[in-house]
Amino acid sequence: TLTQAEKAAVVTIWAKVATQADAIGAESLERLFSSYPQTKTYFPHFDLSQGSVQLRGHGSKVMNAIGEAVKNIDDIRSALAKLSELHAYILRVDPVNFKLLSHCILCSVAARYPSDFTPEVHAAWDKFLSSVSSVLTEKYR
Ligand code: HEM
Repeated sequence: TLTQAEKAAVVTIWAKVATQADAIGAESLERLFSSYPQTKTYFPHFDLSQGSVQLRGHGSKVMNAIGEAVKNIDDIRSALAKLSELHAYILRVDPVNFKLLSHCILCSVAARYPSDFTPEVHAAWDKFLSSVSSVLTEKYR
């Protein structure tokens, strides 16, 4: 669980990220698909070329969900309950992929806000994304 200071750091950096959430979401997916091409197998029905409508649309959805988790940082599990069921029971995304996407989101945020991305913010954001991933993968068995 995140400390009060970590939660505060996540909320602060999110205030900036939220203003460019769609672009950051699309960039994170671009990083995911180019650095870890095996992740593309979950999206056979998508046009994954850079800047495609589907890539941008999906990036926006992912970042919205992250925003919901930030708003409900004390109860991420309830906030993302439906999404957790979707990823576990319907999409069946292998949990390893959540680490990869989290890393790509982390990189996109760091690249866009280098001076805000102190070691403390890095650690807090990493821990937060790992909590989100835990919630999204906890229904697997
Ligand atoms: C769908 C969020 C990780 C694969 C979605 C949706 C959201 C979302 C909001 C749309 C749900 C809806 O339309 O109702 C997230 C978040 C993640 C995450 C917040 C972690 C931070 C992943 C990973 C993969 C993945 C790691 C696979 C590499 C998919 C697929 C869909 C989906 C295939 C369905 C796309 C479609 O057909 O429209 N996700 N996701 N997700 N997600 Fe995730």
